[in-house]
Amino acid sequence: MKLSNLSGLIGESPTLNLNAKTAALKKQGLPIVHLGGGEPETPAPLSAVEAIIKKVQTRKIKYSPTTGGPELKKAVCDYTLRAYGKEVAPANVIVSTGAKQAIYNFLLCAVNPGDEVIFPVPYWVSYPDMITLVGGKPVPVKPAKGIEVSFEEIAAAVTPKTKAIMFNNPGNPAGVVYGEDFVKKLVEFCEQKGIWLMTDDIYHQLVFGGIKTPSPFKYAKNADNIVAINGVSKVYGLTGLRIGWAVSTNKTIIAAMGRMQAQTTSCNSDVTEAGALGALTGPQDCITELVSTLQDNKNALMAEYKKIKNIGVTEPKGTFYSFVDFSAYNKDSIALSTFLLDKVMVATVPGVSFGLEGYLRISYCAGKENILEGMRRIVWALDKDAKEPLKIGDTLIHKDW
Ligand SMILES: Cc1ncc(COP(=O)(O)O)c(C=O)c1O
Repeated sequence: MKLSNLSGLIGESPTLNLNAKTAALKKQGLPIVHLGGGEPETPAPLSAVEAIIKKVQTRKIKYSPTTGGPELKKAVCDYTLRAYGKEVAPANVIVSTGAKQAIYNFLLCAVNPGDEVIFPVPYWVSYPDMITLVGGKPVPVKPAKGIEVSFEEIAAAVTPKTKAIMFNNPGNPAGVVYGEDFVKKLVEFCEQKGIWLMTDDIYHQLVFGGIKTPSPFKYAKNADNIVAINGVSKVYGLTGLRIGWAVSTNKTIIAAMGRMQAQTTSCNSDVTEAGALGALTGPQDCITELVSTLQDNKNALMAEYKKIKNIGVTEPKGTFYSFVDFSAYNKDSIALSTFLLDKVMVATVPGVSFGLEGYLRISYCAGKENILEGMRRIVWALDKDAKEPLKIGDTLIHKDW
Protein backbone atom coordinates (compact mmCIF):
# COMPACT_ATOMS: atom_id res chain seq x y z
CA MET A 1 0.00 0.00 0.00
CA LYS A 2 1.27 3.45 -0.86
CA LEU A 3 1.45 6.13 1.80
CA SER A 4 0.41 9.72 1.18
CA ASN A 5 2.85 12.24 -0.34
CA LEU A 6 2.59 14.31 2.84
CA SER A 7 3.72 11.45 5.07
CA GLY A 8 6.89 11.19 2.98
CA LEU A 9 7.72 14.87 3.50
CA ILE A 10 8.02 14.66 7.27
CA GLY A 11 11.10 13.18 8.88
CA GLU A 12 11.40 11.87 12.41
CA SER A 13 11.95 14.43 15.17
CA PRO A 14 15.72 14.40 15.82
CA THR A 15 15.29 15.34 19.48
CA LEU A 16 12.56 12.80 20.26
CA ASN A 17 14.64 10.21 18.38
CA LEU A 18 17.66 11.04 20.48
CA ASN A 19 15.61 10.64 23.67
CA ALA A 20 14.47 7.19 22.53
CA LYS A 21 18.00 6.11 21.51
CA THR A 22 19.49 7.35 24.80
CA ALA A 23 16.79 5.62 26.85
CA ALA A 24 17.42 2.35 24.97
CA LEU A 25 21.20 2.56 25.59
CA LYS A 26 20.60 3.32 29.29
CA LYS A 27 18.29 0.31 29.49
CA GLN A 28 21.17 -1.85 28.22
CA GLY A 29 23.05 -0.69 31.31
CA LEU A 30 25.41 1.75 29.55
CA PRO A 31 26.41 4.77 31.67
CA ILE A 32 25.02 7.33 29.24
CA VAL A 33 24.95 11.01 30.21
CA HIS A 34 22.07 12.77 28.47
CA LEU A 35 22.93 16.40 27.73
CA GLY A 36 20.45 16.58 24.87
CA GLY A 37 17.25 16.76 26.89
CA GLY A 38 14.47 19.31 26.68
CA GLU A 39 12.73 19.12 30.04
CA PRO A 40 13.56 20.28 33.56
CA GLU A 41 14.29 17.54 36.07
CA THR A 42 12.43 19.28 38.88
CA PRO A 43 9.54 17.36 40.44
CA ALA A 44 6.04 18.51 39.54
CA PRO A 45 4.68 21.38 41.68
CA LEU A 46 2.64 19.93 44.56
CA SER A 47 -0.32 22.10 43.64
CA ALA A 48 -0.48 20.31 40.26
CA VAL A 49 -0.15 16.85 41.79
CA GLU A 50 -2.84 17.51 44.42
CA ALA A 51 -5.22 18.90 41.82
CA ILE A 52 -4.78 15.79 39.66
CA ILE A 53 -5.38 13.46 42.61
CA LYS A 54 -8.49 15.39 43.56
CA LYS A 55 -9.78 15.24 40.01
CA VAL A 56 -9.12 11.51 39.66
CA GLN A 57 -10.85 10.80 42.96
CA THR A 58 -14.10 12.27 41.64
CA ARG A 59 -14.10 9.25 39.25
CA LYS A 60 -15.46 11.65 36.67
CA ILE A 61 -12.99 11.56 33.83
CA LYS A 62 -14.84 12.73 30.76
CA TYR A 63 -14.51 14.86 27.65
CA SER A 64 -13.70 18.43 28.59
CA PRO A 65 -14.86 21.60 26.76
CA THR A 66 -13.15 21.62 23.34
CA THR A 67 -10.98 24.70 23.83
CA GLY A 68 -10.32 24.33 27.56
CA GLY A 69 -12.40 24.42 30.74
CA PRO A 70 -13.65 27.84 31.94
CA GLU A 71 -11.58 27.79 35.15
CA LEU A 72 -8.39 26.99 33.27
CA LYS A 73 -9.09 29.69 30.68
CA LYS A 74 -9.63 32.18 33.50
CA ALA A 75 -6.29 31.08 35.02
CA VAL A 76 -4.60 31.61 31.62
CA CYS A 77 -6.11 35.12 31.47
CA ASP A 78 -4.67 35.86 34.94
CA TYR A 79 -1.32 34.43 33.88
CA THR A 80 -1.32 36.60 30.75
CA LEU A 81 -1.89 39.67 32.90
CA ARG A 82 0.93 38.64 35.28
CA ALA A 83 3.44 37.67 32.62
CA TYR A 84 2.63 40.01 29.72
CA GLY A 85 0.78 42.86 31.43
CA LYS A 86 -2.06 42.20 28.99
CA GLU A 87 -5.70 41.88 29.93
CA VAL A 88 -7.55 39.27 27.87
CA ALA A 89 -10.89 37.46 28.15
CA PRO A 90 -11.57 33.70 28.01
CA ALA A 91 -12.71 34.10 24.37
CA ASN A 92 -9.14 35.20 23.59
CA VAL A 93 -7.73 31.88 24.84
CA ILE A 94 -7.54 28.35 23.47
CA VAL A 95 -6.03 25.60 25.60
CA SER A 96 -4.45 22.80 23.57
CA THR A 97 -2.59 19.52 23.93
CA GLY A 98 0.79 21.15 24.53
CA ALA A 99 2.17 24.33 23.02
CA LYS A 100 2.89 22.21 19.98
CA GLN A 101 -0.78 21.70 19.16
CA ALA A 102 -1.45 25.40 19.78
CA ILE A 103 1.27 26.26 17.21
CA TYR A 104 -0.09 23.74 14.75
CA ASN A 105 -3.64 25.07 15.16
CA PHE A 106 -2.31 28.57 14.50
CA LEU A 107 -0.56 27.45 11.30
CA LEU A 108 -3.68 25.60 10.11
CA CYS A 109 -5.69 28.80 10.50
CA ALA A 110 -3.17 31.38 9.24
CA VAL A 111 -1.35 29.73 6.34
CA ASN A 112 -2.58 28.80 2.86
CA PRO A 113 -0.69 26.40 0.59
CA GLY A 114 2.32 28.23 -0.88
CA ASP A 115 2.37 30.97 1.77
CA GLU A 116 5.78 31.73 3.23
CA VAL A 117 6.45 31.57 6.96
CA ILE A 118 9.61 33.21 8.26
CA PHE A 119 11.51 32.19 11.39
CA PRO A 120 15.04 32.80 12.72
CA VAL A 121 17.91 30.30 12.57
CA PRO A 122 18.78 28.43 14.73
CA TYR A 123 15.17 27.32 15.09
CA TRP A 124 13.22 24.81 17.11
CA VAL A 125 13.44 21.53 15.16
CA SER A 126 9.67 21.25 14.65
CA TYR A 127 8.98 24.59 12.93
CA PRO A 128 9.94 23.65 9.34
CA ASP A 129 7.99 20.38 9.39
CA MET A 130 4.94 21.95 11.01
CA ILE A 131 4.86 24.65 8.31
CA THR A 132 5.31 22.01 5.61
CA LEU A 133 2.42 19.99 7.06
CA VAL A 134 0.00 22.86 6.43
CA GLY A 135 1.33 23.35 2.89
CA GLY A 136 3.34 26.47 3.73
CA LYS A 137 6.90 27.24 2.68
CA PRO A 138 9.39 27.41 5.56
CA VAL A 139 11.70 30.43 5.23
CA PRO A 140 14.51 30.09 7.78
CA VAL A 141 16.59 33.27 8.19
CA LYS A 142 20.24 32.73 9.04
CA PRO A 143 22.16 35.42 10.91
CA ALA A 144 25.12 36.77 8.93
CA LYS A 145 27.25 35.75 11.88
CA GLY A 146 26.71 34.10 15.23
CA ILE A 147 23.41 32.79 16.55
CA GLU A 148 21.15 35.84 16.75
CA VAL A 149 19.34 37.33 13.76
CA SER A 150 18.67 41.04 13.56
CA PHE A 151 15.30 42.61 12.83
CA GLU A 152 16.75 43.87 9.53
CA GLU A 153 17.66 40.30 8.47
CA ILE A 154 14.10 39.14 9.18
CA ALA A 155 12.58 42.13 7.37
CA ALA A 156 14.80 41.50 4.33
CA ALA A 157 13.34 37.99 3.96
CA VAL A 158 9.76 39.28 3.62
CA THR A 159 8.16 38.91 0.17
CA PRO A 160 4.58 39.44 -1.07
CA LYS A 161 4.01 35.77 -0.18
CA THR A 162 4.98 36.15 3.50
CA LYS A 163 1.99 35.22 5.63
CA ALA A 164 3.51 34.86 9.06
CA ILE A 165 6.64 35.36 11.10
CA MET A 166 7.21 33.12 14.08
CA PHE A 167 9.88 33.34 16.70
CA ASN A 168 10.69 31.73 19.99
CA ASN A 169 11.68 34.04 22.84
CA PRO A 170 13.86 33.04 24.67
CA GLY A 171 14.97 30.77 21.87
CA ASN A 172 15.55 27.05 21.74
CA PRO A 173 18.36 26.07 20.99
CA ALA A 174 20.58 29.13 21.50
CA GLY A 175 19.15 30.68 24.69
CA VAL A 176 18.95 34.03 22.88
CA VAL A 177 16.54 36.55 24.38
CA TYR A 178 15.34 38.96 21.71
CA GLY A 179 15.24 42.34 23.42
CA GLU A 180 12.75 45.19 23.57
CA ASP A 181 14.15 46.89 20.46
CA PHE A 182 13.87 43.75 18.29
CA VAL A 183 10.36 42.94 19.53
CA LYS A 184 9.13 46.53 19.14
CA LYS A 185 10.43 46.79 15.56
CA LEU A 186 9.03 43.38 14.63
CA VAL A 187 5.60 44.06 16.14
CA GLU A 188 5.32 47.45 14.40
CA PHE A 189 6.58 46.01 11.12
CA CYS A 190 4.15 43.06 11.10
CA GLU A 191 1.26 45.30 12.06
CA GLN A 192 2.04 47.72 9.27
CA LYS A 193 2.48 44.94 6.67
CA GLY A 194 -0.50 42.85 7.82
CA ILE A 195 1.64 39.80 8.63
CA TRP A 196 0.75 37.32 11.38
CA LEU A 197 3.24 37.33 14.24
CA MET A 198 3.37 34.20 16.34
CA THR A 199 5.52 34.40 19.43
CA ASP A 200 6.37 31.06 20.98
CA ASP A 201 6.96 32.06 24.59
CA ILE A 202 7.17 28.61 26.14
CA TYR A 203 10.44 29.54 27.95
CA HIS A 204 9.58 33.16 28.66
CA GLN A 205 10.06 33.09 32.45
CA LEU A 206 13.26 31.03 32.24
CA VAL A 207 15.60 34.02 31.96
CA PHE A 208 18.69 34.97 33.93
CA GLY A 209 20.29 38.00 35.52
CA GLY A 210 17.12 40.04 35.99
CA ILE A 211 16.23 40.10 32.27
CA LYS A 212 12.55 40.13 31.38
CA THR A 213 11.28 38.66 28.11
CA PRO A 214 9.59 41.53 26.25
CA SER A 215 5.83 41.35 25.81
CA PRO A 216 4.86 41.70 22.13
CA PHE A 217 1.51 43.18 23.21
CA LYS A 218 3.25 46.21 24.70
CA TYR A 219 4.13 47.60 21.27
CA ALA A 220 1.00 46.77 19.30
CA LYS A 221 -1.53 49.45 18.40
CA ASN A 222 -4.04 46.76 17.49
CA ALA A 223 -2.66 43.35 18.41
CA ASP A 224 -5.06 41.40 16.20
CA ASN A 225 -2.23 39.92 14.13
CA ILE A 226 -0.41 38.59 17.23
CA VAL A 227 -0.79 35.07 18.59
CA ALA A 228 1.22 34.30 21.74
CA ILE A 229 1.92 30.67 22.59
CA ASN A 230 2.64 29.45 26.08
CA GLY A 231 2.11 26.48 28.37
CA VAL A 232 3.07 24.59 31.51
CA SER A 233 5.69 22.30 29.94
CA LYS A 234 8.91 24.19 30.56
CA VAL A 235 8.26 26.86 33.18
CA TYR A 236 6.55 24.42 35.58
CA GLY A 237 8.48 21.36 34.33
CA LEU A 238 5.16 19.69 33.44
CA THR A 239 6.01 18.35 29.98
CA GLY A 240 3.99 15.20 30.62
CA LEU A 241 0.70 17.01 31.14
CA ARG A 242 0.61 18.13 27.50
CA ILE A 243 -1.11 21.42 28.23
CA GLY A 244 -0.31 24.59 26.29
CA TRP A 245 -2.33 27.52 25.00
CA ALA A 246 -2.58 30.38 22.55
CA VAL A 247 -3.72 33.91 23.38
CA SER A 248 -4.81 36.54 20.86
CA THR A 249 -6.98 39.63 20.99
CA ASN A 250 -8.23 38.33 17.64
CA LYS A 251 -11.21 36.18 18.65
CA THR A 252 -11.77 35.08 15.05
CA ILE A 253 -8.49 33.17 14.82
CA ILE A 254 -8.96 31.73 18.33
CA ALA A 255 -12.41 30.46 17.33
CA ALA A 256 -11.02 28.99 14.07
CA MET A 257 -8.26 27.26 16.01
CA GLY A 258 -10.97 25.80 18.24
CA ARG A 259 -12.73 24.33 15.19
CA MET A 260 -9.47 22.68 14.10
CA GLN A 261 -9.00 21.24 17.56
CA ALA A 262 -12.58 19.95 17.67
CA GLN A 263 -11.92 17.80 14.61
CA THR A 264 -8.47 16.57 15.62
CA THR A 265 -8.23 15.88 19.35
CA SER A 266 -11.81 16.88 20.35
CA CYS A 267 -10.48 18.38 23.60
CA ASN A 268 -7.64 18.16 26.09
CA SER A 269 -7.32 15.60 28.85
CA ASP A 270 -9.73 16.42 31.64
CA VAL A 271 -7.22 15.16 34.21
CA THR A 272 -4.20 17.07 33.00
CA GLU A 273 -6.20 20.27 32.61
CA ALA A 274 -6.86 19.97 36.37
CA GLY A 275 -3.09 19.64 36.93
CA ALA A 276 -2.33 22.70 34.82
CA LEU A 277 -4.96 24.67 36.73
CA GLY A 278 -3.30 23.58 39.98
CA ALA A 279 0.10 24.77 38.73
CA LEU A 280 -1.20 28.12 37.49
CA THR A 281 -3.18 28.95 40.61
CA GLY A 282 -0.80 27.42 43.19
CA PRO A 283 2.35 28.96 44.72
CA GLN A 284 4.59 30.35 42.01
CA ASP A 285 7.89 30.03 43.86
CA CYS A 286 8.58 26.79 41.91
CA ILE A 287 9.44 29.03 38.94
CA THR A 288 11.96 31.12 40.90
CA GLU A 289 13.48 27.92 42.27
CA LEU A 290 13.77 26.42 38.80
CA VAL A 291 15.41 29.58 37.42
CA SER A 292 17.90 29.59 40.28
CA THR A 293 18.78 25.88 39.71
CA LEU A 294 19.17 26.48 35.98
CA GLN A 295 21.33 29.53 36.61
CA ASP A 296 23.59 27.45 38.84
CA ASN A 297 23.77 24.66 36.24
CA LYS A 298 24.52 27.18 33.51
CA ASN A 299 27.40 28.69 35.49
CA ALA A 300 28.86 25.21 35.98
CA LEU A 301 28.56 24.47 32.25
CA MET A 302 30.14 27.80 31.24
CA ALA A 303 33.12 27.04 33.51
CA GLU A 304 33.51 23.63 31.81
CA TYR A 305 33.52 25.20 28.33
CA LYS A 306 36.55 27.27 29.34
CA LYS A 307 38.50 23.98 29.40
CA ILE A 308 37.96 23.39 25.66
CA LYS A 309 40.09 25.27 23.15
CA ASN A 310 38.73 26.85 19.97
CA ILE A 311 34.99 26.57 20.58
CA GLY A 312 32.57 29.47 20.14
CA VAL A 313 30.42 29.94 23.24
CA THR A 314 27.72 32.58 23.65
CA GLU A 315 26.37 32.62 27.17
CA PRO A 316 22.63 31.87 27.06
CA LYS A 317 20.36 34.54 28.52
CA GLY A 318 17.41 32.21 28.89
CA THR A 319 16.02 28.64 28.39
CA PHE A 320 18.10 25.66 29.51
CA TYR A 321 20.12 25.15 26.36
CA SER A 322 23.51 26.27 25.14
CA PHE A 323 24.42 26.25 21.46
CA VAL A 324 28.13 26.03 20.92
CA ASP A 325 30.28 26.22 17.80
CA PHE A 326 32.41 23.05 17.72
CA SER A 327 33.33 23.39 14.03
CA ALA A 328 37.05 23.56 14.89
CA TYR A 329 36.69 19.88 15.89
CA ASN A 330 34.27 18.70 13.23
CA LYS A 331 32.21 20.72 10.77
CA ASP A 332 29.74 17.83 10.56
CA SER A 333 27.62 18.10 13.71
CA ILE A 334 25.92 14.71 13.25
CA ALA A 335 29.35 13.06 13.02
CA LEU A 336 30.58 14.89 16.13
CA SER A 337 27.45 14.11 18.13
CA THR A 338 27.62 10.44 17.11
CA PHE A 339 31.33 10.36 18.01
CA LEU A 340 30.62 11.69 21.51
CA LEU A 341 27.82 9.19 22.05
CA ASP A 342 29.83 6.22 20.72
CA LYS A 343 33.16 7.01 22.36
CA VAL A 344 32.33 8.61 25.70
CA MET A 345 28.59 7.96 26.00
CA VAL A 346 27.40 11.57 26.11
CA ALA A 347 24.24 12.53 24.22
CA THR A 348 24.13 15.98 22.58
CA VAL A 349 21.97 17.28 19.71
CA PRO A 350 23.63 18.12 16.36
CA GLY A 351 23.29 21.76 15.35
CA VAL A 352 22.21 20.87 11.83
CA SER A 353 18.82 19.79 13.27
CA PHE A 354 18.31 23.44 14.24
CA GLY A 355 19.54 24.77 10.89
CA LEU A 356 23.16 25.60 11.84
CA GLU A 357 25.93 23.18 10.97
CA GLY A 358 29.06 22.90 13.13
CA TYR A 359 27.22 23.49 16.42
CA LEU A 360 26.00 21.20 19.20
CA ARG A 361 23.09 21.87 21.53
CA ILE A 362 24.05 21.01 25.08
CA SER A 363 21.31 21.27 27.71
CA TYR A 364 21.74 22.24 31.33
CA CYS A 365 18.41 21.01 32.65
CA ALA A 366 19.86 17.61 33.50
CA GLY A 367 21.21 18.21 37.01
CA LYS A 368 24.65 19.56 37.91
CA GLU A 369 26.31 16.17 38.50
CA ASN A 370 25.24 15.01 35.07
CA ILE A 371 26.52 18.20 33.47
CA LEU A 372 29.91 17.93 35.17
CA GLU A 373 30.28 14.25 34.32
CA GLY A 374 29.19 14.77 30.70
CA MET A 375 31.56 17.68 30.27
CA ARG A 376 34.45 15.77 31.91
CA ARG A 377 34.06 13.18 29.17
CA ILE A 378 33.65 15.70 26.32
CA VAL A 379 36.69 17.71 27.44
CA TRP A 380 38.74 14.50 27.54
CA ALA A 381 37.50 13.25 24.15
CA LEU A 382 38.35 16.50 22.37
CA ASP A 383 41.67 17.25 24.06
CA LYS A 384 44.52 15.72 22.04
CA ASP A 385 46.84 16.00 25.05
CA ALA A 386 44.47 14.56 27.68
CA LYS A 387 45.97 11.82 29.84
CA GLU A 388 44.68 8.31 29.15
CA PRO A 389 42.65 6.39 30.07
CA LEU A 390 39.31 7.98 30.91
CA LYS A 391 37.56 6.16 33.71
CA ILE A 392 33.79 5.79 33.44
CA GLY A 393 32.64 3.70 36.39
CA ASP A 394 34.77 0.55 36.21
CA THR A 395 35.44 0.96 32.50
CA LEU A 396 38.70 2.42 31.20
CA ILE A 397 38.45 4.15 27.83
CA HIS A 398 41.54 4.42 25.60
CA LYS A 399 41.62 6.64 22.57
CA ASP A 400 41.47 5.00 19.14
CA TRP A 401 41.03 8.37 17.43
C1 LIG B 1 10.43 26.23 21.21
C2 LIG B 1 9.45 25.21 21.65
N1 LIG B 1 8.15 25.41 21.40
C3 LIG B 1 7.23 24.50 21.76
C4 LIG B 1 7.61 23.34 22.39
C5 LIG B 1 6.56 22.33 22.72
O1 LIG B 1 5.98 22.53 23.96
P1 LIG B 1 4.92 21.48 24.50
O2 LIG B 1 5.69 20.38 25.15
O3 LIG B 1 4.09 22.26 25.47
O4 LIG B 1 4.13 20.99 23.33
C6 LIG B 1 8.95 23.09 22.67
C7 LIG B 1 9.37 21.83 23.31
O5 LIG B 1 10.51 21.43 23.29
C8 LIG B 1 9.90 24.06 22.30
O6 LIG B 1 11.21 23.90 22.55
